[in-house]
Amino acid sequence: MSRLYITTPIYYVNAKPHIGHAYTTVVCDVFARFNRMLGADVKFTTGTDEHGKKVEQSAVKAGISPQEFADNISKLFRDLLPVLNISNNDFIRTTEPRHKKTVQHFWKKLKDAGYIYLGEYSGWYDMRNEAYFAEDELVDGKSPLGGEVQYITEPCYFFKLSAFQDKLLEFYENNPDFVYPVQRRNEMLSFIKQGLRDLAISRTTFSWGIPVPDDPKHVVYVWLDALTNYLTLNGYPDNENQNNDKYWNNVIHFVGKEIVKFHAIYWVAFLMAVGIKPPKQVVSHGWWLSEGEKMSKSLGNVQDPYKYCRLFGSDALRYYMLRELTFGSDGNFALEAFIQRYNSVLANAYGNLCNRVLSFICKRCNGVVTRPTELLPDDEKFIGEVDGGIEQVIPLVRQYNFSRYLEKVEHMISLANQYVDYQKPWGLKDSEPKRMQDILFILAEQIYKITKCLYPVIPHTAEKLLKQLGIPYELKFIPTEKIPDVIHITDIEPLFPRIDTSDIQKLNVYAEG
Ligand code: MSP
Repeated sequence: MSRLYITTPIYYVNAKPHIGHAYTTVVCDVFARFNRMLGADVKFTTGTDEHGKKVEQSAVKAGISPQEFADNISKLFRDLLPVLNISNNDFIRTTEPRHKKTVQHFWKKLKDAGYIYLGEYSGWYDMRNEAYFAEDELVDGKSPLGGEVQYITEPCYFFKLSAFQDKLLEFYENNPDFVYPVQRRNEMLSFIKQGLRDLAISRTTFSWGIPVPDDPKHVVYVWLDALTNYLTLNGYPDNENQNNDKYWNNVIHFVGKEIVKFHAIYWVAFLMAVGIKPPKQVVSHGWWLSEGEKMSKSLGNVQDPYKYCRLFGSDALRYYMLRELTFGSDGNFALEAFIQRYNSVLANAYGNLCNRVLSFICKRCNGVVTRPTELLPDDEKFIGEVDGGIEQVIPLVRQYNFSRYLEKVEHMISLANQYVDYQKPWGLKDSEPKRMQDILFILAEQIYKITKCLYPVIPHTAEKLLKQLGIPYELKFIPTEKIPDVIHITDIEPLFPRIDTSDIQKLNVYAEG
């Protein structure tokens, strides 16, 4: 059985979770569920990144300890997981003892390998993004990531990143798919080719962090601390031989576009330095704007995933996020577009199809339909098109083309609606009852297949529908799968009730405070 280790970045605890964070997690969840359906043994992890100067300062401002501050926000991220219906296998906090042990062990390994030395650092420090920049990297007096900068000098341990330039180039050459999409790969390559400077990996200007082994005035740089979470979650250092570990051989890090460099350059160099294999792939997605603008507290446009789930259900939010954004590009998150997609696809096209067919079977066939003994050419064409669609779905997901995948499924749904409209089973009750039940069986079987394709994105509703069909099912893609020859439908209920658009103004989907 193939194994896969899928990770989200671990989230900073200096702000409450918003739609952008929810997106990374949902993408990973869909990918994890999809691969489990294909038979893979998937380990899927997430968590919170809790150290650093900013957390320390926010805690002081709030009049509580950094630990208490981190506890409060970490809980909001953790509690969001069941609300979004996320199937993660573990959740890590960088303040946990298991993580401290890993980071300190990893540090010692880097040091023993000769890649850490003590020096002094001066530079422009972007506090928001916990990163130093050189004068020539600043943009309009701010860091290239947009944060305010301060000039700081401190004694500091360095990692010999410069020693990895050629090894990184060779690694990129040998692993052309290492960074996805190719645009980000090219950015990484040009960054490496510009020349790599040694990296400051300890801080003395604050104390909220993991102490450097044997020199506790220093705390470990928050990115080195945070990246190591992926090893902690894979049992390192107890499981020291990661190179023989089946999960580690198939790690996929999903990250937003702004943190590719940390994963695809720094992390790779750290791992190379201690002789651990780099991840298999770093997959990067774009950013959500909110109603056309960058989400910010001051603009009051921070989209709150908790509210969307409460108002419309997690499946609706998951569907919208995957369908609306072309994976890898930026996109706009807007309530009106959300409702528009919900009503047209989930409520009308899919929900109505299921409801019409299943309730008709209940009312007109006492809930029982059996497999037709023969198929007409129209039936064969329809079934063939649905099967063809399913075959296209699998490679699209493997290529992270989530919006095209859902577009394909939407096409399958519209084929089913066309088949209903053309065959008009409702009119055949008295004249051709046998043909009517044949059509309904064929529809039920195609609804079953379509619903399985949708399962990774709308797991809650998909399971509900599969139960309504009364078929014992397995959440696997089985190419030649057929449903039983007789199906009994009992309870049915609408899947996605329409949203009344006259209420849009009343819906508050923005985070408060
Ligand atoms: N703590 C670091 C990651 C360390 S991983 C070893 C961090 N945290 S973050 O909370 O700022 O971001 C986490 C993820 O949320 C990133 O993948 C980021 O791209 C994503 N998003 C945050 N805002 C976003 C949007 N507005 N849109 C889409 N995703 C964005 O970086």
